[in-house]
Amino acid sequence: MTTWQQRADVVVVGTGVAGLAAALAAHRRGSRVVVLSKASRAEGATATFYAQGGIAVVVPSTDDTVEAHVADTVAAGGGLCDVAAVTSIVADGHSAVADLVGAGARFDESAPGRWSLTREGGHSRRRIVHAGGDATGAEVQRALDHAASTLDVRLDHVALQVIRDAGAVTGVLVRNRDGLGVIHAPSVVLATGGLGHLYSATTNPEGSTGDGIALALWAGLPVGDVEFIQFHPTMLYGGPGGGRRALITEALRGEGAVLVDARGVSVTAGVHPMGDLAPRDVVAAAVDARLSQTGDPCVYLDARGVPDLARRFPTVTAACLAVGVDPTVAPIPVVPGAHYSCGGVVTDVHGRTALPGLFAAGEVARTGMHGANRLASNSLLEGLVVGRRAGSAAAGHAADAAAPRAVVDPVARVAVDRPALQRATSRHASVVRDAEGLSCVAELLGTAQPLNLDSRNDFEDAALTVTASVVIAAARARLESRGCHHRADFPDVDPARAVSVDVRLDADGTPVVDLPERVCC
Ligand code: SIN
Repeated sequence: MTTWQQRADVVVVGTGVAGLAAALAAHRRGSRVVVLSKASRAEGATATFYAQGGIAVVVPSTDDTVEAHVADTVAAGGGLCDVAAVTSIVADGHSAVADLVGAGARFDESAPGRWSLTREGGHSRRRIVHAGGDATGAEVQRALDHAASTLDVRLDHVALQVIRDAGAVTGVLVRNRDGLGVIHAPSVVLATGGLGHLYSATTNPEGSTGDGIALALWAGLPVGDVEFIQFHPTMLYGGPGGGRRALITEALRGEGAVLVDARGVSVTAGVHPMGDLAPRDVVAAAVDARLSQTGDPCVYLDARGVPDLARRFPTVTAACLAVGVDPTVAPIPVVPGAHYSCGGVVTDVHGRTALPGLFAAGEVARTGMHGANRLASNSLLEGLVVGRRAGSAAAGHAADAAAPRAVVDPVARVAVDRPALQRATSRHASVVRDAEGLSCVAELLGTAQPLNLDSRNDFEDAALTVTASVVIAAARARLESRGCHHRADFPDVDPARAVSVDVRLDADGTPVVDLPERVCC
């Protein structure tokens, strides 16, 4: 049972770009804010910290326009972007980045006062601002950590359950070193990041275990577009083995690096007019197809022609050297790797969910920005813009709500063995899927056993299990190939299925897919 109780106006779960942007915005509006992180140390705990490429933003003094950025985002999104949401978020980008600069972030410049802009896959313009060459996320995290240093940020606090009454959020059930406790609060912002550790190897930090998706599902909310898991085409290949692997940023291709197979043959020639700078789903599928054809364990990113490689890309250079590859003299071995969840908890562009008092922002949320495939470097942008808005909305909700008294009834969850789940999803639910493989994962999930959430690890196992169950349900229901979702048994886009699919849990915890009538069965 619970051993401690506290009160707050706004509880933010997560300390990456969206979480801290939300916390700072709520604090500015006068809320008592508590920020929770399950990590024991702040450094390297968030996906934000590892982001390399940058932030896609329309810089007013250039030839770029909001309309062009929206068009590129929508083109990458495979017919499922919500154009109004994309427009709203893109249009707010420059002001959000300017706020970040106000908080102390420093971006690379091509001349004093002029940001150096690079290009990534799917972008028709140079519009990616970056920092420290390829250490953009680390700089964003540093600036936000500094700005949030006066806030109440708590490490080693695992949010186990969003507590609600019939109509609204009333608090959060939390496990920390003192045991189980409750923070009574009218507003909770989920900013827990992604779910990369659903797979054996991923570019995500170790805490990316679908936590926010699980918390929202258990609170009775739907998630959307969760079948669209983006595989980054160029995760460093360092031999077999799992866990977090280094990203080899797409910005290298923006600066001239080329993808080739072991024979030196281009991987993307003839696949898409943008070649190696095609949207990410196209390039990842091309790499996957080449690996299947050749039986090779990896392809190569030849970055030897990139000017000033080691200075411009110090993070990539260090990661390559750590596995014995000098990228200035040898091509970099790469494979597609689980990188980003395009879907998540269904929200509007202010992070509001269908449950009053519950907000979600960043990778955990599905605003309609990414559709079936996120455009490169739109994630930090969305996290900043929607995080800031969600924090304001959460503060506004808290100001209007009566002080809640959360009554908690902790529930046992179910889980399957994590390595077995990761092997099954990696084999059957990654870049290419089919009905038979997805059934194998569903069968494994059907063997889940009850589990008390006595540790962070238990919570993560349960979160991964329920997250996998909705991903697999959505992937089984989408009988076509679109964006990041490639079905070997349904290889074409079905225009009748250009619609987002939500999944929720029924009273038994079984995923239920809300299929519109016209695409049902
Ligand atoms: C990259 O630098 O290639 C990743 C950026 C992103 O995921 O948007």
